[in-house]
Amino acid sequence: MTIQKIHNLAIKMGIEADFRGKEGVEGLLKRKKKKYERLTEREKKEFDLEALENPFLDSRILHIAEDKEIKKILVGIGIEPAEVLLAKEIRGIDLIISHHPLGKGLAHLSDVMGLQCDVLNLYGVPINIAEGLMKERISEVARGVNVANHQRTVDVAKILGFNLMCLHTVCDNLAAKFLKDKVEKEDNLMRIEDLLNLLKEIPEYKEAIKLGLIGPKIFVGEKERRCGKIAITEITGGTEGSSKLYEKMAIAGIGTIVGMHISEEHKKEAEASHINVVIAGHISSDSLGVNLFLDELEKRGIEIVSCSGLIRISRVQK
Ligand SMILES: [Fe+2]
Repeated sequence: MTIQKIHNLAIKMGIEADFRGKEGVEGLLKRKKKKYERLTEREKKEFDLEALENPFLDSRILHIAEDKEIKKILVGIGIEPAEVLLAKEIRGIDLIISHHPLGKGLAHLSDVMGLQCDVLNLYGVPINIAEGLMKERISEVARGVNVANHQRTVDVAKILGFNLMCLHTVCDNLAAKFLKDKVEKEDNLMRIEDLLNLLKEIPEYKEAIKLGLIGPKIFVGEKERRCGKIAITEITGGTEGSSKLYEKMAIAGIGTIVGMHISEEHKKEAEASHINVVIAGHISSDSLGVNLFLDELEKRGIEIVSCSGLIRISRVQK
């Protein structure tokens, strides 16, 4: 496969797993095109044209050093200059894939956060409330990334001649869809204990427990409490949303949230709204999403070397 074909496959899978549905995602791209057409010539020059084709701007090709057939890849949760140097040591690495966004992908992290509004709406939060509360948080994240030296790793890849890509929300979408399907298929998820046990059956989380990583763990609530409506609202959509949303989620009838990670501020707000929070685990949930994509590459004969926290579990039938 070529680098472009790998990226196209990732975007396609990300759209298929997206909670907004294919039509929702395509509608978003159409709106972006219309907005682009209305820009002045000067604004068009500054416009990121990839935004017209790629609905996940935190998942992109960052550098093509040599456009060749990709046979062996190095994949990590977060690629930093050290991992690029590692790729040089390993030899034969044709492409490096980072889950966490880098370069332009990091600069556009806030762009994917609109997805959270639709996910919340899917679980009953009125769209006007979700959009109103997320607006503030999205602009906070957009400003927040200004401190990052986001080209650092990309520059190392350029100097050392490595192909580099980051796949963030596409993989988080795969993890979210996997967890949503699993939760919805299970009839007996009465108490939080049942939900925890279900999560603990997933190999990535089993491995995380062995490694001493956090999760699956109850952050708010108790084992014996009943789950109520379980919402997978905090697995995909860039990064943590607005803490003011918990109250609205409670009003919308959400009882328990499954998330990757949670800050203290969000935990307090969830507690105040009596929403149970089960944290599945950060790196393990990231690994789950990345693995679901990597399986497709494995099926196509690509050799995978994992690094930087990635718990590689293959679901490919051998
Ligand atoms: Fe992550």
